[in-house]
Amino acid sequence: MTTGEMLYEGKAKKIFLTDKEDEVIQYFKDDATAFNAEKRGTILEKGIVNNKISTRLFQELAKAGIPSHFIQQVSDREMLSRRVQIIPVEVVLRNRATGSIVKRLGLQEGMMIDPPLVEFFYKDDSLGDPLITEDHIRLMKLATPSQVIELRTQALKINTVLLPFFQQRGMLLVDFKLEFGLWNGQIILADEISPDTCRFWDIQTGERMDKDRFRKDLGRIEETYQEVLRRVCN
Ligand code: TMP
Repeated sequence: MTTGEMLYEGKAKKIFLTDKEDEVIQYFKDDATAFNAEKRGTILEKGIVNNKISTRLFQELAKAGIPSHFIQQVSDREMLSRRVQIIPVEVVLRNRATGSIVKRLGLQEGMMIDPPLVEFFYKDDSLGDPLITEDHIRLMKLATPSQVIELRTQALKINTVLLPFFQQRGMLLVDFKLEFGLWNGQIILADEISPDTCRFWDIQTGERMDKDRFRKDLGRIEETYQEVLRRVCN
């Protein structure tokens, strides 16, 4: 496969064109950012780890009938994907309260959220990715009401697959962020699912096993990413 010109560079990935107009390469970088890129750093081999973890999770979801942009992993840092038009709405699902919802609503840290909560954020760095309601999504024409229902339904379904998957590996899936894209008029899961975009707590020790180690300077960042890879891909 020939990798063509770069289409887009984000904070953690680059997207390249390929010789097929409906396929792109996602290249996973080691760059790490937090707090809307106010904090920047590098997590050694993060790109490799996140590519492999995302690959495994997209395969697991495909088995459960959840379509995504994933086609195949083509190298350590590259994933061949369907070219989608990203819907600029970040879909967050929470099984426990932590992070921004604790700051925003004063919920007790670690509080169980059952049934899980789905939140929407407007994907716009210049605005700091604000929380938005379904009415905002309609007002701004980011998605149609039926597409919003689809986003929520898919997020909940993905949770029912991933929650037991991680539990079997000794990890609590605390929350995660998904991005979806339009492909042939259909909504499919896109982007990545990794320790950058999820929170995992070790079931035995409660240890943080995700990007919170970078956000909060908890140390042992690289080792933790490698440990998540080991648990997910073994
Ligand atoms: P939050 O508690 O900061 O809103 O984060 C919720 C989930 O979304 C958590 O698993 C981390 C993930 N996330 C991203 O993937 N990208 C982001 O820019 C932010 C703020 C959170």
